[in-house]
Amino acid sequence: EKKTEQTAPLKGKKVLVTAGPTREELDPVRYFTNHSSGKMGYAIAAAAKELGADVTLVTGPTSISIPSGIAVAKVTSAKEMYDATLSRFSEQDVVIKCAAVADYTPTIVHHNKFKKKNDTWTIELKKTDDILQALGERKEHQVLIGFAAETENLEDYAKDKLIRKNLDMVVGNDVSKEGSGFGSDTNEIMMIKKDGSVKTLPILSKEKAAREIFEEVMELMNR
Ligand code: CTP
Ligand code: CA
Repeated sequence: EKKTEQTAPLKGKKVLVTAGPTREELDPVRYFTNHSSGKMGYAIAAAAKELGADVTLVTGPTSISIPSGIAVAKVTSAKEMYDATLSRFSEQDVVIKCAAVADYTPTIVHHNKFKKKNDTWTIELKKTDDILQALGERKEHQVLIGFAAETENLEDYAKDKLIRKNLDMVVGNDVSKEGSGFGSDTNEIMMIKKDGSVKTLPILSKEKAAREIFEEVMELMNR
């Protein structure tokens, strides 16, 4: 029993992680997306599994393989990610929203390929629903962690997201920094908890960064 607690501290706990980009379709051949590779989210899911948790990964399209022993829900659009995440929220103990969700999606999705005609093409986009915000509004017993990808004022913007979205912790990273950007194998993160404590880490592999995140998550769970 003692041994299990040490090697599998998250045994019996349910952890849901969202990862990767989303894809917003414009017509049958075109879509909007972003530079997220999914590496950070997949490393978080693998770390949770390593700690003994029952893990679900809700993932947008990525080119990396799914870590074994993890339940997976593959999604494409922000709307699909919203539905896949919200429908599983009540049973979770921890939710970590690492995905880079599209903030806007086309107002019109063309059924057929949009043909070249005028010199310009104006595309109207509408806001997507904020998944993390919706989770924050529905939060009961869950520990809720969000990410903040910024290119300036990291700490201020991350703190604002922590409060606005009712999170227990926000993980901020400056995506304009070398070794911290999209697609990188490393990340330089800052963790801010709702008690105001701030922990800044050096550049780490995404695997190590994921383990550091769980050190804080486990502390939050034990409160
Ligand atoms: N997020 C979400 N649903 C959205 C947009 C963002 O769940 N429609 C989540 C992300 O998964 C991340 C957090 O919100 O955990 C912050 O995402 P980020 O893009 O940094 O912030 P936004 O709130 O979208 O604001 P902005 O892009 O303007 O900085
Ligand atoms: Ca955003």
